[in-house]
Order: sequence, then C-alpha cells, then structure tokens
Amino acid sequence: MAVSAKPSFARPRVIVIGAGLMGLWPAALLAEAGCTVHVLEAGAAARGASWAAAGMLAPASEAAEAGHESASTLDDFSLHSLALWRDWAARFDAAGQDICWRPFGALQTAFGEAGMHQLQRNSRAASALGLTPQVLDAHKARQMEPALADGVRGALFIKEEASVDPRLVLTALRALLADVGGRVQTGVRVRALARSGRGLQVLCRNGDALDADAVVLAAGFAAGAIDGAGLAGRLAPVKGQMLALQTEAPVRAVIRDARAYLVPRGKGRMVIGATSEPGLADDGTDARTLARLHQGAAAIVPALKDAKMTACWAGVRPQSRDGLPLIGALDVPGLYANCGHYRNGVLLAPASAALIRALVLDEDAGAFARAFAPARPGTPC
Ligand code: GLY
Repeated sequence: MAVSAKPSFARPRVIVIGAGLMGLWPAALLAEAGCTVHVLEAGAAARGASWAAAGMLAPASEAAEAGHESASTLDDFSLHSLALWRDWAARFDAAGQDICWRPFGALQTAFGEAGMHQLQRNSRAASALGLTPQVLDAHKARQMEPALADGVRGALFIKEEASVDPRLVLTALRALLADVGGRVQTGVRVRALARSGRGLQVLCRNGDALDADAVVLAAGFAAGAIDGAGLAGRLAPVKGQMLALQTEAPVRAVIRDARAYLVPRGKGRMVIGATSEPGLADDGTDARTLARLHQGAAAIVPALKDAKMTACWAGVRPQSRDGLPLIGALDVPGLYANCGHYRNGVLLAPASAALIRALVLDEDAGAFARAFAPARPGTPC
C-alpha cells in the first residue's frame, strides 16, 4: 500500500525529474503556487516521449484505436484534459507563445467495407463520449479534405479533436516556468531516491545529493530505472517511429487510418506516424519502416508520394500494466509519479499536471486521483 505522502508545510521545495510535458507542466503550476521548483533533465534538452509525440489531442480516435466501445474513466479524464487544453491554448496565445494549436478536428478514413463498419462503431463510441461525430460518404469526405485519395469510401469526422506541436509546447512551458521562478537544470542524470529526515534526497550520477520536500517522477519509461522509486518493472516501452514531410498538400484536419496518421503542422510541414513496437526502448529508426509509413500516408493523400522527408525520429511510449497512467503518491512519503501515459501523454498532460499540483499541495484531488493512483488495485508495486 502507498503511504499517504503529504508534506506538512504549505509550500514544499519540489524537485521534478524529467523536463518533458509531464515534468514541466506540474513544475510550472507548483512554481506558480509559490513552491520552489527545480526540474532535472538527464539530457542536454528534453528528447523523450513528449518531444517525439505527434501532438494529437484525440480522446475518441485513441479510444477507437484501443478498441474501447464504452466510456471509461480514462475517457472522462481525456475529455476533461481536452477542455483544459482549450484554456491553455488561449493562455499560451495571450502570452505570445505559438504552440501550433489546430482545433480543426480529426478525420478517420475508410477505404473498404470493413473500414466503413468500423467507422460506424467508432461513431457510436464517440457519441457515447458526448462528442458529435459525423459519418461522411466519399463525396463529403473529399469535399472536406480534397487531398484525400479517390478510393476513399468514407470518413468519420470528429470536430472536437485537435493537435499541437509538442516541441513548441515544451518551449512555451519552459518560458512559463522561468516566468514563475522555476529552474531547469539539464545534463543531470538521477540515480536513486532516498528518504532524508522528513523529506527526500535525490542522488545524481554526478555525485550531487539534492534535498526536497516533494519529488515528482516524470521521466517516462526511464523512471523505472531510478533506484528507490518503486517503479522498476511497472513501465513497459512501446517504441514509435515517425517522420516529417515537406508538402504543400492542403490538409486541414488530422487524418487517421490503419496505415498511418497525418498531422499537419502548417508552413509546408506534415508529421506522419507511427509504429507501435512493444518491448523496444531505443530511439533508432530504419529506412524500410519509414518508407512503409510514407507509402501508407501517400495511399491516403497521394500528393505526399513525392514529398521530401525532412526528419525522422523515434520515441518511447511508457505503458503501465493496466494501460492507465500512474499519477500520484508512491510508497515513499513525498514521492509522486506522473508517468505511464502511453499513447495519450500530450492529451493528458494538463489534467495530469493539475492532479499532481493538488496532491503535492495537499488539496482535494478528486476522483481521477483515486482512479490513477499508482497504488490502485490491480497494479501491484
Ligand atoms: N498518440 C499517438 C501515438 O502514440 O502514436
């Protein structure tokens, strides 16, 4: 059982391990609330799952991808986080931070009979989430997205879905964190965590030992390798390879298909994803796999066939045993996890940050905190 981890002072000194979205976002909220916040990042810059992600904010499309047919707590949390995203997009905009906010919906395409049946099922599931899906015939789908291939049979449009560029969001969060007095230190690899008096000590590979009242573990799959955190073996890696194309193809919505997803970034750039390679935690890419993704994308939008690949990369999605994120207190008092968001890290980032803020400040964190607590039933430590 997790021991309740509630620092007894109003504004704890917080160390956050990981400068991805799961680290920077709660760091900014806690610094804004008056905490002293120090973020540690192992690399020269955060290059983890957040940096690699496509940035789709897709509660219904991802639920369909996972095969959910009825609404779950994760779906409710996803919708709540999507609503927070809209507020945050306005806030970043007001601060002059471009995050490539594209609230233009998502179009799931079908090219055969079986695909059309699947769209009907996905449409019912999206309605059950309270969204307003529209099943379009081929003509309407191509009216909406004229770049779609002639062979498209139909599509499901989910207007509430959106996308952002996660790398721009990381930049925006770093600026916000700096504005509210938080500090990011890069090139610091954490080795272990230890109890120290009423607080915690963060032991780094460079020999530093840093004291904190609360520690937020937000290092994605790598969190499992930190001694004393209790996450060893609780996160599995699922690698995703991706590429970016230079193209003027006029695509407005995110387009999703079994072969690939297409995420327009504007300014002649399109991100294509992604493989799903369980058990792999490396960041290598291979030409054959990228070519397959590129061909898949070109089968959906033929104008992409000769588009130049401008970048390729891979990220590691951290997956917990039950597929739900681990958000909340771990067994060591003062230690919190914010990891295991698997395919939905970008979508769930603002809601997860708000939970971590509430837990660290000992405020009421509500039902989601119980649902995603690392010590929940069925997720043995
Ligand atoms: N959320 C999309 C992916 O993980 O590939």
